[in-house]
Amino acid sequence: MEFFELIQKRRSIRLYTDEPVDDSLVDKILEAARIAPSAGNLQPYEFRIIRDIQVKNELVTAAYGQGFIATAPVVIVFIEDAARTEKTYGVRGSSLYVHQDTAVAVSHAHLAAADLGLGSCWVGAFDSPAVARILNLRDGIVPVAILPIGYPAESPPENPRRLMGELLPEK
Ligand SMILES: Cc1cc2nc3c(=O)[nH]c(=O)nc-3n(C[C@H](O)[C@H](O)[C@H](O)COP(=O)(O)O)c2cc1C
Repeated sequence: MEFFELIQKRRSIRLYTDEPVDDSLVDKILEAARIAPSAGNLQPYEFRIIRDIQVKNELVTAAYGQGFIATAPVVIVFIEDAARTEKTYGVRGSSLYVHQDTAVAVSHAHLAAADLGLGSCWVGAFDSPAVARILNLRDGIVPVAILPIGYPAESPPENPRRLMGELLPEK
């Protein structure tokens, strides 16, 4: 899809069909995240792929009952490694760049999914320590986004955005 059409058509999708999502598509989505820009090219993130229904159900609990996570055929969790950025950039790295870098990677993945005809929803509301326990993460790395992915079973209307005049008062 042409880029501007893609960013206009993308929606948060929370209802999925039962159609499985092929590994090759998940690979493409993760590749889009992998090649995202990052401060100093430090790439302070990792990914986890979850297809197991029991683990997905545990993620739903950690995400305060957001049940659509478990209905997606595949779920990607994005994890931050602040130490990786802090080594080079100190507190600015660990308090700012690591979040910005990971957000760009999640955004690439979310848009890549849309481009492949898949629906996904960026889930940020969850108990990070609980998800870290579920995924058995090593100390110091923190899950920051859950991206359930599946073929869309809904076509939500466009959500309103603030007007450009509010964002760019001088215009
Ligand atoms: C950082 C972030 C966290 C979000 N967390 C959640 C969430 O926990 N649950 C959810 O259903 N949607 C979540 N969303 C999706 C937003 O609700 C959605 O992007 C927004 O309402 C605009 O709708 P649209 O994506 O369809 O344009 C999140 C989005 C972002 C960027």
